[in-house]
Amino acid sequence: MSRIAYVNGRFVPKSKAAVHIEDRGYQLADAVYEVWALFDGKLADPEGHFVRLERSLSELSIDMPMSRAALTTVLREAVRRNRVREGLVYLQVSRGVAKRDHAFPTDPVAPAVVVTVSRVDRASTEARAAKGVGVITLTENRWGRCDIKTVGLLPNALAKQKAREAGAVEAWFVDEMGLVTEGASSNAWILDGEGVLRTRDTQANILRGVTRLTLMDVAREAGLKVEERPFTPDEARAAKEAFITGAGSLVLPVVSVDGKPVGDGAVGPVAMKLRRLYIERAKATAV
Ligand code: PDD
Repeated sequence: MSRIAYVNGRFVPKSKAAVHIEDRGYQLADAVYEVWALFDGKLADPEGHFVRLERSLSELSIDMPMSRAALTTVLREAVRRNRVREGLVYLQVSRGVAKRDHAFPTDPVAPAVVVTVSRVDRASTEARAAKGVGVITLTENRWGRCDIKTVGLLPNALAKQKAREAGAVEAWFVDEMGLVTEGASSNAWILDGEGVLRTRDTQANILRGVTRLTLMDVAREAGLKVEERPFTPDEARAAKEAFITGAGSLVLPVVSVDGKPVGDGAVGPVAMKLRRLYIERAKATAV
C-alpha cells in the first residue's frame, strides 16, 4: 500500500497530508517535479533525474531544498515506508508559501517539498507493451520552456484526456513546422525505413527525458544508429516502428497514429528489445 507521503520534513499518512493554500505551486504552478521509476524498490536513472531537477530549479531560481544525498535518503525512506517494490516515486518542489503575488516573494521562503510513492503492476504494463498502444496528434499549444519540468501541465492534461476519449494512450504534440515534438508525458521515437532510430533534438521545445537519454546510449550499445532528427506524423506511420519513452511508460511500442497503423500495425521487435535492454540497464544502475 502506498499510504505515506513526505511533506516538508515529515512522513504523514496521505489522508492527513496537506499543503498550504498559498503554496505557490498550488496557486501559480510555481513548482517543479521529478518522477523516478522504481525497480525492486530502487530508484531508476538516479543521476539523470537529479541533474534535471537541479537544472529545473535553477532555471526558476528556486534553491535545492536539501543536498542530493539527503534527498535520496528521503526518497528511499518514502519507498521503504510504503513497501513498494515496483512503482513510481513523485517529488515536487515548489517555491514555497507566500501571500499571492505573481512576482517572487521578497522575503526568502523555504521551498516546499512533497514526495509520494505509487505502485505499478508490472504484469499489466508488460501486457500493454506487448499489445502496443495508439497515439493521437494535436497542435502544440504549450509554453516555450518545456525543458523545465514544471507542474504547469494543463495543456498536457487536456491532451491526455483527448487521447483517452479517442481510445488512445498518448497524445503527440505537432509544432508549426508539422514535426512531432513529444508526447503529453513521454518522448516520441520512430525506427525509420533506413533502420535509424529518430527522436526530436533538445534544441526543440521538449522535455529532456531521462529515459530518452539512457535509451540513446542503450540503443547505440546495441549497435543501432540513433539520430536526434525530427519526424512528421506521416513519417511515423510510414516508419517500421514507433514508441514512446518515459519513467512511466519505460519503452512502450506505438502501433497507430491517429487511428492509422504504424508500419504493418504490429508491435515491432526493435521496440520490444529496447524495452528489455532499458529495463536491464535501469535495474543494474538503480540505487
Ligand atoms: N513525464 N516529456 C514529457 C512532457 C514528460 O512529462 C515526460 C515524463 C517525458 C519523459 O521524461 P522521463 O523519461 O524523464 O520520464 C517527456 C513523467 C513521467 C510524468 O509527468 O509523470
